[in-house]
Amino acid sequence: MSSTPISLGLSPADIGQIVSSKRVVALTGAGISAESGLATFRGKDGIWAKMKPQELASIEGFMANPALVREWYQHRRDMLSTAKPASGHIALVKLEQLVSQFTLVTQNVDGLHAMAGSQSIVELHGNIRRTLCFKCGAETESASIEFRGGDIPRCHCGGALRPGVVWFGEPLPEQALESAIHAAMNCDLFLTIGTSAQVYPAASLPEIAIDQGAIVIEINTEETSFTPQATHHLRGSAGELLSSLVNLFENRHESHRV
Ligand code: OAD
Repeated sequence: MSSTPISLGLSPADIGQIVSSKRVVALTGAGISAESGLATFRGKDGIWAKMKPQELASIEGFMANPALVREWYQHRRDMLSTAKPASGHIALVKLEQLVSQFTLVTQNVDGLHAMAGSQSIVELHGNIRRTLCFKCGAETESASIEFRGGDIPRCHCGGALRPGVVWFGEPLPEQALESAIHAAMNCDLFLTIGTSAQVYPAASLPEIAIDQGAIVIEINTEETSFTPQATHHLRGSAGELLSSLVNLFENRHESHRV
């Protein structure tokens, strides 16, 4: 946690309301993991500025060139093998311990929230550390299964394995989506962190929360299409801003007196 919290520019009344929240949801995107050294998807330096999502992240792309897709996911897994949770991931672990009800909904497939120690995690887009069998549908998490070279990794049933992530054109895992919608519908505070708010259904979650009357805070280095709807938008690093926000929860008895 940052020892010198940065100012969030919120009024004492806003702070009082925010820290009174009991049911909190955080939606995270690639921006929170950018501070762990992982690339985001959009923007000039994003993955999709250099690579075509249809070639690398769709069933059609996989069928057209399975070796390329396997190599790309293995490369991302290799990058992850040395990545560590950043201060934003760690701040969310703390926040979970400070409020009565907390749900962490993530679009990230990197598993860094679990590595940081978050408990209540809903993974909307799967997890790159897992594999999925085309034949029996079994999901497995095993670092020893690799997508390297021309070899097709196989499930115990003999079926070919693919990365356990959601590709474009595929539905989200039903249970995860249901849990995320339920949490968004029943929260007092919703944080949308480091996401460009362009990919649905994830991008509908802050909209649901706003419609239900929740306070919705956007944390992002840049403006997004959701910014005008947010109750508050905080511009800057996810790690710094979240650390300061969580600091307000830790000191909530004092902030009520401000
Ligand atoms: P994007 O790459 O679309 O957006 C990342 C957002 O993070 C941008 O709005 C940046 O401004 C912001 N950002 C970057 N660095 C930041 C930092 N240090 N602190 C705070 N904000 C920062 O990533 P997502 O919104 O997560 O889907 O993308 C959503 C989905 O699109 C991904 O899950 C992936 C992708 O295609 C699948 O793989 C299915």
